[in-house]
Amino acid sequence: MNKPWLPLQEHDNELFQLCERELLRQREGLELIASENFVSPQLLACVANPFTNKYAEGLPSKRYYGGCAVTDELERLAIARAKRLFKAEFANVQPHSGAQANSAALMALAAPGDTILGLDLAQGGHLTHGSPVNFSGKLYRAHFYGVCKETGRIDYDLVAAQARALKPKVIIAGASSYPRHIDFEAFHSISREVNARLLVDMAHIAGLVAADLHASPLPWADAVTTTTHKTLRGPRGGLILWDDVELTPALNRAVFPGTQGGPLQHVIAAKALCFKEASEAAFRTYQQAVVNNCRALAAVLVAQGMQLVTGGTDNHLLLIDLRHGKLSGKDFEQTLERVAITANKNMIPGDQRSPFVTSGLRIGTAAVTSRGMGIAAMGSIAAFLVRTHENHNNAQYLDELRQEVLALAQRFPLYPHW
Ligand SMILES: Cc1ncc(COP(=O)(O)O)c(C=O)c1O
Repeated sequence: MNKPWLPLQEHDNELFQLCERELLRQREGLELIASENFVSPQLLACVANPFTNKYAEGLPSKRYYGGCAVTDELERLAIARAKRLFKAEFANVQPHSGAQANSAALMALAAPGDTILGLDLAQGGHLTHGSPVNFSGKLYRAHFYGVCKETGRIDYDLVAAQARALKPKVIIAGASSYPRHIDFEAFHSISREVNARLLVDMAHIAGLVAADLHASPLPWADAVTTTTHKTLRGPRGGLILWDDVELTPALNRAVFPGTQGGPLQHVIAAKALCFKEASEAAFRTYQQAVVNNCRALAAVLVAQGMQLVTGGTDNHLLLIDLRHGKLSGKDFEQTLERVAITANKNMIPGDQRSPFVTSGLRIGTAAVTSRGMGIAAMGSIAAFLVRTHENHNNAQYLDELRQEVLALAQRFPLYPHW
């Protein structure tokens, strides 16, 4: 601390080089991972703020540490903005991540050993919705609903029948790889009929919800969890929202001291900025472009012979069905990496391959749209995907294709002033 201030490059060159290489990787290639995005330069800068030095266990005005007056103001600002953005009565902005938000929400809504009912991981759900390898499958008696074999969509009558038979304490709606709108009102009716709590995890679609491009779960759910870093385009983090004042003590206590210690106040500062950015008209335009781009990408892929789960998309992601093709999801993901395209393998409904191999590839348009890409670029990206798939054994072809991918990315500079 007594040394003169040095830029990171001189202070720790090894670390600086890693940061530079990651920035180059993000700039050079095409990012199609559906859960990723590029925050604004202002938000990127905002994460590095002095609140990282502050301990603030507790809630505003009810802290276990001194010196929290400014931190209290910051957290109140973030809470107010989150509530306004999602039209919620209450918010807790402290969860470190989406998984933390889900662990706290489940702790508040159920007791260990209670039955929970969520979407199967292999059919689009998330680990924290009851997977046996996760706390949610170890602490609770987890059961799963799936999607309809023929359509790939959630069959609400089947969910209702399962709920009637199982009488779960909590029903979880929300997904990590579901390309269609989710009917939260239908989930509400089912949960009320069987006297269950409804937890909605809107992590993937929070940006669409903020922009009114997907119906909000708020009027229907007992608690809503989300990440802030996917379509919402904020810092890595979690958030819980709810309307019922009676749930307030349980939800807040489940975050701290239930599942976390000191909140990451520097990230909460960046969340406050994210909520402000997401409330602006430009964000709605951006989200509309994300959805339009995804539809356009899906249409070209289908026209070029690719099969998609559910045949298309309503949101920011699509799932390529590789069950009948030459490549597994894992092979396709690795081949795409050779041409500077990042996407991720994914289980698809009816998958016979293991979760490490998979028969699906998940594609999202949130990040490339943040770079300013539009419908024409989606045509190029669809062609890149098809050409990579068809020429996966041809090293020279892939090298040349990589140059085309880099050229497209260069036309849409990322953080040009960084
Ligand atoms: C639906 C859903 N919920 C929760 C999470 C977990 O979020 P995190 O990685 O921030 O813990 C994810 C992550 O991909 C997700 O897709």
